[in-house]
Amino acid sequence: MIKINNALLKEILSVYGPSGLENKVSDIIKRELEEYADEIYNDALGNLIVRKKGIGKKIMLAGHMDQIALMITFIDDKGFLRFTNVGGISPSTSLSQRVIFNNGVIGVVACEKLDSIKDLKLEKLFIDIGASTKEEAEEMITIGDMCVYYSEPIIDDKKVITPALDDRIGCYIMIEALKNMGKTENDLYFIFTVQEEVGLRGAKTAAYGIDPDYAYAFDVTGTGDTPKGHKMAVKLGAGPAIKIKDRSILCHPKIKNYMIEQAKENSIPYQLEILEFGGTDSGAIHVSKSGVPSGVLSIPSRYIHSTCEMACVSDILNSIELTIKLIENNIDADTSAYKFS
Ligand code: CO
Ligand code: ZN
Repeated sequence: MIKINNALLKEILSVYGPSGLENKVSDIIKRELEEYADEIYNDALGNLIVRKKGIGKKIMLAGHMDQIALMITFIDDKGFLRFTNVGGISPSTSLSQRVIFNNGVIGVVACEKLDSIKDLKLEKLFIDIGASTKEEAEEMITIGDMCVYYSEPIIDDKKVITPALDDRIGCYIMIEALKNMGKTENDLYFIFTVQEEVGLRGAKTAAYGIDPDYAYAFDVTGTGDTPKGHKMAVKLGAGPAIKIKDRSILCHPKIKNYMIEQAKENSIPYQLEILEFGGTDSGAIHVSKSGVPSGVLSIPSRYIHSTCEMACVSDILNSIELTIKLIENNIDADTSAYKFS
């Protein structure tokens, strides 16, 4: 039975890695997987490619290393910083939060005086790093620098709470799957992608370069289990979610059915997911070249894109178990031509 590697999980959830600057995340994964890989390298955009060679089907796994961020656009005379979003940053979840820059500088997000909470927009927010002049701020920060939400990850027996769950948890599941898998003939490409949060950019070029027979993405998905929450048949603690559809993909029926089959055969709990908002790496992968049949294993998560993204430990462990089964085995059927069943 696989257990959570607390030290590694905490490290990968804490490391700084906004879209376009994923190198610190990549370095940790490289260190962890070097001895398990036949090939390990970064491509031109920064995707980390970890290959476990085989003579069988070429299968791509993708999880994104980047996290949403705030990018500094302007520094005023008093040393306050204005910013724009890199990925899905909302004003209400950003207000009063701590943020951290690549060089370790920490600030807080504050707001101009508002007449109504309805006026709360990103333009009304600023970052206070404790500088009292523009010059002082400029000694710490340059235009274009990015900061991410800063909050210590919490990991207990039941749950994980952290701002970078999306999608370091997907990376973690892929790492543990590679470490714990058995022998297979499959030619496996574990791709830790860049720039998902700004439009699935790393997955797009990686899929083109690798040209896999089929693919899986690993990412968080929303739930419908909170008070007056959006109607959605996914909840925390009920197992990994097998995606049917989101805004970026209609998952290939063969891959989806194979995922369900593997879960059933191995008595791993699972749930079916339709995400009405958002997409993930498989959205770019499945339309690469002449098409790549793709599925998605989603980790049910509450409060996505906030400082307190929450997932369930049992779902994480079951996701690792299911991933191992998916990659140790292989879809019997030919996926090169589309068949509905
Ligand atoms: Co996201
Ligand atoms: Zn994500």
